Amino acid sequence: MVSPLVALTPKVQSAIAAALGDDFCEADPVLRPSQFADVQVNAALALAKKVGMPPRDVAAKVVDALDLDGVCSKVEVSGPGFINLTFSDAWLASLLQDVAADERVGVPAQAPENIPIDYSAPNVAKEMHVGHLRTTVVGDALARTLEHLGHHVIRQNHIGDWGTPFGMLIEHLLEVGEGSDEAQLLVTDPNAFYQAARVKFETAEKAEPAGSAGDFNTRARTRVVSLQAGDPETLRLWNELVDLSKVYFNKLYTTLGVTLTDLHLAGESIYNAALPGICDELEGKGIAQVSDGALCVFLDGYTGREGKPVPLIVRKSDGGYGYATTDLATIKYRVHDLGAHRVLYVIGAPQALHLNMVWDTARKAGWLPDDVVPVHVQIGNVLGDDRKILRTRSGKPLRLMALLEEAIDKARSVIDETRPDLDEETRATIARQIGIGAVKYADLSVAHDSEYVFDLDRMVSLTGNTGPYLQYVVARVRSIFRQVGLDPLAQHAPIVLGQAHERDLAKHLLGFGDVVAEVGATYEPHRLAGYLFELAQAFSAFYENCPVLKAESDEVKQSRLTLCALVLRVMTTGLDLLGLEAPERM
Ligand code: ARG
Repeated sequence: MVSPLVALTPKVQSAIAAALGDDFCEADPVLRPSQFADVQVNAALALAKKVGMPPRDVAAKVVDALDLDGVCSKVEVSGPGFINLTFSDAWLASLLQDVAADERVGVPAQAPENIPIDYSAPNVAKEMHVGHLRTTVVGDALARTLEHLGHHVIRQNHIGDWGTPFGMLIEHLLEVGEGSDEAQLLVTDPNAFYQAARVKFETAEKAEPAGSAGDFNTRARTRVVSLQAGDPETLRLWNELVDLSKVYFNKLYTTLGVTLTDLHLAGESIYNAALPGICDELEGKGIAQVSDGALCVFLDGYTGREGKPVPLIVRKSDGGYGYATTDLATIKYRVHDLGAHRVLYVIGAPQALHLNMVWDTARKAGWLPDDVVPVHVQIGNVLGDDRKILRTRSGKPLRLMALLEEAIDKARSVIDETRPDLDEETRATIARQIGIGAVKYADLSVAHDSEYVFDLDRMVSLTGNTGPYLQYVVARVRSIFRQVGLDPLAQHAPIVLGQAHERDLAKHLLGFGDVVAEVGATYEPHRLAGYLFELAQAFSAFYENCPVLKAESDEVKQSRLTLCALVLRVMTTGLDLLGLEAPERM
């Protein structure tokens, strides 16, 4: 299934070869959408120099050789040598008919690759922040899209479930009591639990830095040692902490409508056993050396101030392993055990240096073959009105659940105003769909590595480039079919294109498959968001200008209903790939 531009490319290519000779059979025909026609062919300008002819003459020769019978209704050379092509309505309609008959509405099925995607990755006993929200939402959209393209996506939720803080967290859990209300904070307000443990630890440190065996700080330190040694009771308590955090994560995932479940957990702790071997192998291969007591990898091209080499520390001087060692284990595991063809890390932009050093080290060690592509899908910051990292008014980090609830409340007041006729339960469902859709779409409609200002009022608005606007368009199409009592999925009448707005809508619909493939190749869901927004606008213009139910003839009415049905299928498929629900009515 192909868009008109893609369908046209080989035709123009062979015309260029016929006009200028076989040497040019692979020349890029440079097809661009045009304001003056459907497509502009710009190749003549670049080829003119090579063949030593004026560009207009080249264009004329190519036009002579072009066989566009049935494809174009108009071909003309304009300006310095552009070729303007206007598709025939019948050709556009036949391409669209093919899309309508395709249950994938034009989305290609690609040769399956194994693609682990590392996303979300919140930390145990800590609040998820808006940065985690963004990697969760973007990662989930990529997972859905790549899966839909036919790939074997392996979700990897690399939660932070290991490290020294677990000593104080376990001791705090013991003091407040397993099953106590304070322990439940891990589910409802994890930061409160974490902060309480920290305050205890720091107070103890100040009072008695050296500490006696019974002091909180000393017990916390001993606990870390027992945890690393695999003491069964300590592991049981650690599991308890992780389990409570899972309840918290899952509650957010369910509210957000993301596809992550416990099956996708692959936290830092699962790599523990591999870490000593990673270090030994690096040392054995001469890739890592001991420097100031720590085991370090020095790589070419990584220098800091005054040209000093920046090391990747794989084992600290106290014998502990850090974030870098664990990530060496992730790439090794994903390539070797998961058989990855590509590996996606959907992580904050500031971690680019860390990831590049890890990958370069892995390449040197032979853990990352040249044909496996690691990709850092960089996540940018979410800002408040003051253009600083988003926080609450009191300056505290934001509670994500509170933020989502606020979005749902705002959506609720919008829907209460526009649809007071709907019953309470329906309005509550729609408010959830709109509120969550609004927040997710805001993340997905901007480039994932850019910063954006979090503005709930704008996000839930029914106009502009927002999730609710797209959802509203879907609801509108559904209401057309409800009015006539027809099933949109059974609407397959012949398409006839006459009006400019019909043609324009048809051209947009034909682009869906290309856009989805592009998201799979560039890891940029905002391209799909932008496409859906333009499609929604094209539909709105069509709907305002081309009467559907009051069309001039039954043939036109049936054709327009088919266009509406296609809009519905493309929109709901596209929104689903982004992870947005489309309400039945709004
Ligand atoms: N837990 C980390 C954080 O909250 C993100 C981990 C990302 N994944 C990875 N493989 N490093 O910042």
